[in-house]
Amino acid sequence: MKVISTEYSQMLAARIAKEGGMDLVDVKYSRFPDGEHYLRTGPVDEEVLIVGSVVNSDSLVQLLLLTDACAGARSALLLPYMGYARQDKQFHPGEPLSARAMARVLSLGVSRVITINVHDQGVLFHFSVPAVNLSLAPDIGKYLSAAGYTDPLILAPDHGATAFASVVAAAKGWDCDHLEKTRISGEEVRIEPKNLCAEGREIVIVDDIISTGGTLATATRLLYEQGAQTVAAACVHGVFAGGAFSHLFASGIQQVFASDTIECGCSVYSAAGTVINGLSRC
Ligand code: R5P
Repeated sequence: MKVISTEYSQMLAARIAKEGGMDLVDVKYSRFPDGEHYLRTGPVDEEVLIVGSVVNSDSLVQLLLLTDACAGARSALLLPYMGYARQDKQFHPGEPLSARAMARVLSLGVSRVITINVHDQGVLFHFSVPAVNLSLAPDIGKYLSAAGYTDPLILAPDHGATAFASVVAAAKGWDCDHLEKTRISGEEVRIEPKNLCAEGREIVIVDDIISTGGTLATATRLLYEQGAQTVAAACVHGVFAGGAFSHLFASGIQQVFASDTIECGCSVYSAAGTVINGLSRC
């Protein structure tokens, strides 16, 4: 199997290829004068792992073109970050089920799909080919331990992230709890005060995604009010939309850790090992 990627997932693809002992296919990317994407791949084997996070419309178009260019091969698609996956419910008549729309189109031309900490595993049923989801929660636990955390309180910002947080905490048998979050708008959340024994603790809030940073900034302020010694955050997908970093650092958060499913300055742990193990299992 060879590995090939869009421009948006180059580092992760290179790590997968290196750690998995696979060849990385060279791809030339450019644009036509009207702005449309062009790409041309080097020789692709009978089997290829296509790696491409959907972080915006350009990344989606590039991924569709890359999949088409690999049409002669048996392709597995790795979606490190699947944009639109959070829009998995219709709240008003006339709205699309965006997660389903994405899954349908991304199933075309591939034989299977692998996601990483997709927001809701129900999304997997929208793919028309077999789809599996891998989790980086154990890797985050190991990273935090290697980074020097000895007795942190691992905290999920809401009920939905509890299972994820408990796997992070299980890496070293750390304490784990969750907050109660209500989303008011795309950028604003309310987090209920809760008796957590935050006093004097090193707290790491863990979540699948940091998008606007609203969830974390609100939680961080609350935890400092409750006497936390330090607050940091660890996520899989660092979207960091708009002014996320300014919100986060204004809240007093000390560190923000993310994986390379979206390549950014906070990408400190890689999904490569988990993907390689996952490939051998599915
Ligand atoms: C929501 O359920 C997710 O797990 C994250 O908590 C959410 O996407 C974070 O968004 P934001 O950073 O905009 O608060």
